[in-house]
Amino acid sequence: MPKQSNVQKVFDAVADKYDLMNSLMSFGLHHLWKKKFIAMIEPYKTHSLLDVAGGTGDIAMGFLDNGGGKAIICDINNNMLIAGDKKRIDNGSFNKYKENLSTMCEDAQDLPFEDNSFDRVTISFGIRNVESIQKALDEMFRVTKVGGKFLCMEFLRPESDTITRKIYDFFSFNCIPMIGKIVIGDEKPYQYLVDSIRAFPKKDDFIKMLEESGFKMVKTKVLLKDVVAIYTCYKLSK
Ligand SMILES: C[S@@+](CC[C@H](N)C(=O)[O-])C[C@H]1O[C@@H](n2cnc3c(N)ncnc32)[C@H](O)[C@@H]1O
Repeated sequence: MPKQSNVQKVFDAVADKYDLMNSLMSFGLHHLWKKKFIAMIEPYKTHSLLDVAGGTGDIAMGFLDNGGGKAIICDINNNMLIAGDKKRIDNGSFNKYKENLSTMCEDAQDLPFEDNSFDRVTISFGIRNVESIQKALDEMFRVTKVGGKFLCMEFLRPESDTITRKIYDFFSFNCIPMIGKIVIGDEKPYQYLVDSIRAFPKKDDFIKMLEESGFKMVKTKVLLKDVVAIYTCYKLSK
């Protein structure tokens, strides 16, 4: 099955329980990682954000809560976007966001925006799911304004046998599919999510891909050694 339709099936299966599973899978750490990521976006009131593969919208909401101007959550899976809307309706925040937040069901590899449209473009735990990583990076570079910042948070492909890596590997290979089985009744979507981390380019190779797209001043901030990193970079010219 082509990767993209497999990814659609995976996120269709997990959409309703995505936030709960994220918390269980990361022991709640994803909240801290996202908080750090949002601070590194440096939200500003005149700035626009495009959050690609934005799922249920944590990054876009965090951007707006911390002083950002307007945000679009773009995701290829409509069920993930609906789960995000439902979350905001259920917790009473829908009206708070509705003026400055919109959702669009679109593919990261073919973004329906003009060149140089956004001050900030982000993708959090989404890039490893797209069929062509380079195509998605090229698109995200294209829609970033000159002078704008791009940020990507992603799991690191295992490159060493440090203790955090060993613990994380044990947990992810043994426990995550099992938690999936308990929470959504199926371990396969979570097996895919775990396997996709191993298929993602190594850190230095990913940095080369960012540079290949045109991004400059690429920096990496490792949040959990050998497990999660944030990549930041800028578009300095067209
Ligand atoms: C692990 S979730 C991350 C969601 C959110 N960014 C977060 O940090 O919680 C990955 C998301 O990537 C989306 N996705 C996968 N392939 C995509 C593509 N080609 N274009 C846009 N979104 C995509 C999935 O539908 C899913 O919502």
